[in-house]
Amino acid sequence: MGKQARDGPARHGKPALTTERHLITSALPYINGVKHLGNLIGSMLPADVYARFQRGQGHEVLFICATDEHGTPAELAAAEAGVEVAEYCREQHEVQREVCARFALSWDHFGRTSAPANHELTRDFAAALDDNGFLETRTTRQVFSVDDDRFLPDRYVIGTCPNCGYDRARGDQCEHCTKQLDPTELIDPRSAVSGSTNLEVRDTTHLFLLQSRLADEVGDWVRSRDSWSPLVRSIADKWLKEGVQDRSITRDLSWGVPVDADRFPALAGKVFYVWFDAPIGYLGASREWADVDPAGRDWRRWWRLDEGADDVTYTQFLGKDNVPFHTIGFPTTIIGSRQPWKLVDRIKGFSWLTYYGGKFSTSGHRGIFMDDAAELLPSDYWRWFLLSNAPETNDSNFTWETFAGVVNKELAGELGNLVNRVGTLLGRHCDSLVPAPGPAGDPETQLEAAAEAAITAYLAAMADLEIRRAAQALRSLWSAGNVYLEQTEPWRLVKTDPDAAAGVLRRCLALLATLGRVLEAFIPDTAAVLAGVVPLDAGGPVTTDLLTRLDRALVTGTPAAFPPILFRKIPEEEVEAWKARFGGGDAGPASSD
Ligand code: 2FM
Ligand code: ZN
Repeated sequence: MGKQARDGPARHGKPALTTERHLITSALPYINGVKHLGNLIGSMLPADVYARFQRGQGHEVLFICATDEHGTPAELAAAEAGVEVAEYCREQHEVQREVCARFALSWDHFGRTSAPANHELTRDFAAALDDNGFLETRTTRQVFSVDDDRFLPDRYVIGTCPNCGYDRARGDQCEHCTKQLDPTELIDPRSAVSGSTNLEVRDTTHLFLLQSRLADEVGDWVRSRDSWSPLVRSIADKWLKEGVQDRSITRDLSWGVPVDADRFPALAGKVFYVWFDAPIGYLGASREWADVDPAGRDWRRWWRLDEGADDVTYTQFLGKDNVPFHTIGFPTTIIGSRQPWKLVDRIKGFSWLTYYGGKFSTSGHRGIFMDDAAELLPSDYWRWFLLSNAPETNDSNFTWETFAGVVNKELAGELGNLVNRVGTLLGRHCDSLVPAPGPAGDPETQLEAAAEAAITAYLAAMADLEIRRAAQALRSLWSAGNVYLEQTEPWRLVKTDPDAAAGVLRRCLALLATLGRVLEAFIPDTAAVLAGVVPLDAGGPVTTDLLTRLDRALVTGTPAAFPPILFRKIPEEEVEAWKARFGGGDAGPASSD
């Protein structure tokens, strides 16, 4: 955590103490095609929530993402689309940037691993590793597909896993048991490009990162991390136990970061392996961010311990298949550079979101993709469903039925209904103006206590990076509003004590303003609508006494403006129509991408 105490807003409802600095990254989405909802909830969306939350608490945030553009998937996708790979990536980057904006993902910069900044940094890291004796040129035997006339990258050789027997294991890693593999270890190998089994093993020269020489150091560093989630910890430990092997970091491809032929003449014409340059892309994209405004932005202040990053807390969000590369692979690159780069502090790993019990699949176009989702409904419907059902400790399942159930009950039935009732009653009995404060009795005390408990639980869950728990706390905040209305029955009270009824509605307005502030990280568009019902200065962080603070800030007689409808219900016919359009019901293939 930040060492340098500076004046700034507070966390956890305590007086202002320090401004923290948070570097936040989401795993970089592959360039080939719009991402599905599983990708969205597996890193990008929770990272956005955390960035929004920390900004809202008054902390300094640098939130970075980028498209992961190199490697064979991009080459093959471009060939299929009939365009040059550079052009394909340029177009797809724009497509992804736009669709991410539709989900209100609030990066400070959405960069590209193919950008010059990343090329340069990747070559610099390789040079540093070389200078420190951690690189070696080795001639290896690699799978060559005669029918495809190319060497096959590891993941494009498919076969049976020697460890668990899974019959669609990829040559780089078995997705079923997560074991890191060499493609030559696969039983019954075949080309994933063409399906051909006409494969040969040929000589080729590559750069190897001598991870084994750094294994003890990296292992000590991993063991010193005490704030990784159990999922991340167990995967990292398992990987360390299996033994960290030297790894080839170059490939026989044309699309990628070219290896510096002056330094490595035997590697002329080859490129770095995508998994070598992709995590360096976090730094590359930060540098791109700074390049937009060189006088005002300093990316090294976020990344270099000797240039101010010693008080940065760095949190990564990623899917569980990415854990080995982030806990061991990338840290090995950084540690081996012997340069004072910032290493990750906290890693939040996610399990899978399944689609009717099977995997989402980009190549099989199975499941819901972000562009289609954004066409169907506003992003907050998706954000709420995905976050409140985030696959944190276990996989979680998407079905149209459960999605509609959550929207109809939690958003339309509870939150939307609360807002609608308050708006209708205020219009009917108070000319839609903020009423004067009323008497405070038991229901008010209970509402205050419930709001305080909900916000306390929310802040604690966010501190622990527990997204579902945080969502539950938010829901309990709006539920407290519905309980309060049921207890006080202002529609009845108005007949006997109109001032008291008006006082109840004022409390409700304060609660809506509270929701407008607290929901900002999870459902920002809805939060903005609620915050706009009675515009108030809700500045400062979310604190446990927010309801009381905002109640005090309300000015009697101010007009309140309500949205016509906050959330619509999804009728059964629509569920059926969407199921028919997107598929559902069959479990689908066991593998995903
Ligand atoms: O698994 C993936 O989607 C990768 N594109 C993630 C890369 S994260 C980082 F290392 F770049
Ligand atoms: Zn396996």
